[in-house]
Amino acid sequence: MKTVHTVKELREFISAEKKAGRKVGFVPTMGNLHSGHISLVDQAKQHADFIVCSIFVNPTQFGVGEDFDRYPRTLEEDSAKLAAAGCDLVFAPDVDEVYPEQSQAWVKVSVNDVSENHCGASRAGHFDGVGLVVSKLFNMVQPDVAVFGKKDFQQLAVIRRLTIALNFPIEIIGAETVREDNGLAKSSRNGYLSEQDKQDAAVIYKQLNQVMADIKEGNKDFEQLVKQAEAQLTEKGLQPEYFNIADQDTLKPADDNTKKLVILAAAKLGTTRLIDNIDFEI
Ligand code: PAJ
Repeated sequence: MKTVHTVKELREFISAEKKAGRKVGFVPTMGNLHSGHISLVDQAKQHADFIVCSIFVNPTQFGVGEDFDRYPRTLEEDSAKLAAAGCDLVFAPDVDEVYPEQSQAWVKVSVNDVSENHCGASRAGHFDGVGLVVSKLFNMVQPDVAVFGKKDFQQLAVIRRLTIALNFPIEIIGAETVREDNGLAKSSRNGYLSEQDKQDAAVIYKQLNQVMADIKEGNKDFEQLVKQAEAQLTEKGLQPEYFNIADQDTLKPADDNTKKLVILAAAKLGTTRLIDNIDFEI
């Protein structure tokens, strides 16, 4: 496995692979990798011959007061995990390489509608930052296939639309969420939690499952279901930010007739913000 830090070196590797007729698979990350990220590499390997993983803590998707500065940067450990997983190339640029001349201020990549609710409502500009960096990474890597986790369900929806809207010739694959034994979704931010916190945080997935089960049994009183779920989160010491029942495709609030549903939740435990979701059909 090779590691490169500049777009120029990256392009040299990629063009050699493409010339040799190999299909390029891409897994963008912000590093501090766990088994959820590695599952994306495994997926990519099923669809492509040459796997590129980017590690870049993207400043434009963090809001003021969020954890950009303290976000864990662990390139050495990440590289060892990626090499073991069979990744071929790591792209680990610095901020000036991705945003030369502070060029993040020159353009805006905004995906309408699907970025507005849920995390979009509380993290102003977050999905613009994701849209911008993913567009740039797509242009830099020029992959045939890119894999994103359903853990960030709204992000995946934003990227699917971005790919269609900007004609990126890239197949987008959504990968299932990898969890701890107690159901807590794996996340780089779990590193901020104590063992007790991790036990308490499992309530999020438990309540997602509970509400899903209730809906599947025919309960359509979404308002009441959400109220009960949020009360359970609060009981465990979490501060719910949202707990929304939505249409999987539009991410707008679900109604009685919605068949493809997703329940999305965000909550804070101390200063750590956690998100999770569950999608299902009725
Ligand atoms: P990051 O949070 O590092 O996540 C990188 C990828 O891993 C995303 O597609 C995310 O959905 C996926 N992922 C995270 N936890 C997962 C889990 N438990 N199971 C399966 N997949 C999981 O998402 C980002 O970085 C950034 O926004 C990025 C797309 C790289 C743009 O900066």
